[in-house]
Amino acid sequence: MASIKQMDYGTPERVSDTQVTLDIDGRVVMVPAGTSIMRAAAEAGINVPKLCATDSIEAFGSCRLCMVEVEGRKGTPASCTTPVMPGMKVKTQTSRLEKLRRGVMELYISDHPLDCLTCPTNGDCELQDMAGVVGLRQVRYGFDGANHLKAEKDESNPYFTFDPSKCIACSRCVRACAETQGTFALTIAGRGFDSIVSAGAEESFMDSECVSCGACVQACPTATLMEKSVIEHGMPEHAVQTTCAYCGVGCSFRAEMQGDTVVRMVPDKEGGANEGHSCVKGRFAWGYATHQDRIYKPMIRERITDPWREVSWEDAIGYAAQRLRAVQAKYGNGSIGGITSSRCTNEEVFVVQKMVRAAFGNNNVDTCARVCHSPTGYGLKQTFGTSAGTQDFASVDDTDVMLLIGANPTDGHPVFGSRMKKRLRQGAKLIVMDPRRIDLVKSPHVKAAHHLQLRPGANVAAVNALAHVIVTEGLVDEAFVAERCDPVEFDRWRAFIAEPRNSPEVTEPLTGIPASEMRAAARLYATGGNGAIYYGLGVTEHSQGSTMVMGMANLAMATGNIGRRGVGVNPLRGQNNVQGSCDMGSFPHELSGYRHVSDDAVRSVFEEVWQAALDPEPGLRIPNMFDAATHGTFKGLFVQGEDIAQSDPNTHHVTSALEAMECVIVQDLFLNETATFAHIFFPGTSFLEKDGTFTNAERRINRVRQVMAPKTGKAEWQVICDLVTAMGYPMHYDNASQIMDEIARLTPTFRGVSFEKLDRLGSVQWPCNDAAPEGTPLMHVDGFIRGKGRFMITEFVPTEERTSRYFPLILTTGRILSHYNVGAQTRRTANVAWHPEDILEVHPHDAEERGLRDGDLVSLASRVGGTTLRAKISDRMPQGVVYTTFHHPVTGANVVTTEHSDWATNCPEYKVTAVQVTRSNQPSDWQVQYESDGIQRRQIAPASPPQAAE
Ligand code: SF4
Ligand code: SF4
Ligand code: SF4
Ligand code: FES
Repeated sequence: MASIKQMDYGTPERVSDTQVTLDIDGRVVMVPAGTSIMRAAAEAGINVPKLCATDSIEAFGSCRLCMVEVEGRKGTPASCTTPVMPGMKVKTQTSRLEKLRRGVMELYISDHPLDCLTCPTNGDCELQDMAGVVGLRQVRYGFDGANHLKAEKDESNPYFTFDPSKCIACSRCVRACAETQGTFALTIAGRGFDSIVSAGAEESFMDSECVSCGACVQACPTATLMEKSVIEHGMPEHAVQTTCAYCGVGCSFRAEMQGDTVVRMVPDKEGGANEGHSCVKGRFAWGYATHQDRIYKPMIRERITDPWREVSWEDAIGYAAQRLRAVQAKYGNGSIGGITSSRCTNEEVFVVQKMVRAAFGNNNVDTCARVCHSPTGYGLKQTFGTSAGTQDFASVDDTDVMLLIGANPTDGHPVFGSRMKKRLRQGAKLIVMDPRRIDLVKSPHVKAAHHLQLRPGANVAAVNALAHVIVTEGLVDEAFVAERCDPVEFDRWRAFIAEPRNSPEVTEPLTGIPASEMRAAARLYATGGNGAIYYGLGVTEHSQGSTMVMGMANLAMATGNIGRRGVGVNPLRGQNNVQGSCDMGSFPHELSGYRHVSDDAVRSVFEEVWQAALDPEPGLRIPNMFDAATHGTFKGLFVQGEDIAQSDPNTHHVTSALEAMECVIVQDLFLNETATFAHIFFPGTSFLEKDGTFTNAERRINRVRQVMAPKTGKAEWQVICDLVTAMGYPMHYDNASQIMDEIARLTPTFRGVSFEKLDRLGSVQWPCNDAAPEGTPLMHVDGFIRGKGRFMITEFVPTEERTSRYFPLILTTGRILSHYNVGAQTRRTANVAWHPEDILEVHPHDAEERGLRDGDLVSLASRVGGTTLRAKISDRMPQGVVYTTFHHPVTGANVVTTEHSDWATNCPEYKVTAVQVTRSNQPSDWQVQYESDGIQRRQIAPASPPQAAE
């Protein structure tokens, strides 16, 4: 349990090689040069009164409450804006200072409501605290003069209120929005007495640029900006440190509680990934965890057409065990398998893959990472020797040139997006390679040096063109390559990439990127200082996803941008535990730590610990499971926390496969789309009920702590243990910590990890073992994990998905800030206020050709299926390309996506689908139908996609 209040040092930490020694109130204090007197005092345990200062933003020096006396200096300087000097003698408390501070407080209080007892921030108000600290006993100016006490509240934001009557114009909110979040939504409008915080002329918070990150609410010292949940419940009485369960940034939070009710989620200043920042999802969108749609009781049914029947855990587990064994008896050992979830903890994932390998007796286990970052695992392993990103997030603070490919961090990974923006405002350069004009191309105080607006599907041609320039213009870091990389592979690659067919000029018709722009971008990346590549699903979800990952790794090695801060190749992982679910051995060919199942030595270690014989043959991948199901050889599936019927491509094929199975078990929070085809439903637990770990995009293993007891009565890993025990394979752990101990015992990169260490250090980045007992923030520092870095040939092979007369447009997909993945969680929160439905962005020219207007309902059809959604005319996409999100089941965007996939990993090609868009007045007759019974559930109509004569 954590204390409710975190220490506030008043001004940010400074790092310097020079230490300064000074005297504060008779104490000798030593701090890095550049530190403020206020912070130096706080570090020595002396808290100087303050109002406009807080340690997450730079000092501003407006309130004058923090004045101090410095020997030999006239006046009373503000301690927040005055840096320490060697030999300085400071007094923080004298009768003169007392008097001055009281005067300042009197002025503030004379224009502040005196409703402390009924104020929602009573007990957590810095103004109230400071009035006490300075000993305010009277307000000589009275309360009758001009004031702001009747100023109107802005309640427009669903999560926080703005009550200007309580504002002290300290501008902490304005600075937090600018410095921490980088949105610049707020200003102080007016001057002097008329100064007021404004979200834009005549604009409410909801209508403004505000993205609801909560940084201003966090920074506000009064009740002016206040969480509505605190207004409703009152102040929390204890806090538990845990980790956000949305995206791969893995922000640390303090769940502030009353009993087992969450009052608010506050980003943890000690959080290694977020350092006190958050986005709207982690900060506010946690209400789904107790949403009325949650299922708390296990349910079973004989056939998927039967109604569900609530049963006891014992009955549900017995029924599931008996059905799974019956399927195996009838169709063979390999006729069942499991899918692990990147939303679940490492411990929960580990026991599911163990269940499949040790109790099912095969390797038919796969993970949802199959459909997002499996090419990252393959590509980085081939080139560098390990399936993970190379840097920690803080590394970007030393980056000079960011090459951002196929990722939209301000929407998909917002806290890291803010960190990138901060570095860009400090002068780093940005190259964006993306078909869509994402916000980072141009936003307040940020402008990309180059936007390489490539055609969807042309990634590999584009990365080859960048490399061609580097090789042919003499920009290779020859010393790095000679020392760190395999010379034979490099020479082979150099000869290949230098071929004229890879030049920007020859590839321009494929990529759509002007050759001059491509050349300029390549030169900037190669010569601009520390170059770092960040990428997302716009790289991996292609038929050449793995090739593209290797292409980026080639680029980094050729320019020496590996092995130190500020550089590297960094996947921005989609879900909270994508990295972890892969690390835990979720792929059919790999045991934990990415070791092949055919390796006898590795298998024997597991066999000894698990007391089970393991199959040396890799099992089925998710698409193979679906194919085998439709062919009648795969009949039973355990699905952990994933909605494959919604998230996997070619929905009709997925649902036909599920319908063909005889035992489908779904473990989830809600009766999701996949549960429509299930025979057994095991209710799952939200992150607030879990005890375990998540591993984020920077390989950081974070603790997830139980904030409330499981509402289902059982932890998810306990359900798995009970199930396999009922199947005849006894499995038992007393707690999640014991599962981590087993992971550490069996996995070299996790050997030094334990809950005790995580609790002590906060988090660690793997590899964590004897060689690196406190983890490894940067990979490949002195050498690559595989020894010599390996350049791989990256031949561009166009996707088989082509536009045609009937499907002339390319559809590509992405995320929006307020929603997450298929929206199962965020749709059950007030986040729907920002994005109530999926929208199809259509270029003005394509819209005009089709007679479309903004807001029209349109039919979106591909070769495999179709759907209906609303159009938005937008020039963010180039002509010929349309874009949508996939957060709402009602849209069913994956009805449209095809089964083309990455050649190496089968990761679906979500980012390239040939489509036609036509105006529609109603959902098309071949499209999905819905029923809305509180649990939004979809019935798939028989597949009858538009027949095109091609
Ligand atoms: S919530 Fe975030 S984006 Fe909105 S005004 Fe506050 S700091 Fe700015
Ligand atoms: S809203 Fe809060 S943080 Fe912003 S100026 Fe007013 S008191 Fe300060
Ligand atoms: S969704 Fe991602 S960026 Fe937002 S709070 Fe959660 S982990 Fe952080
Ligand atoms: S805290 Fe230093 S001037 Fe306000």
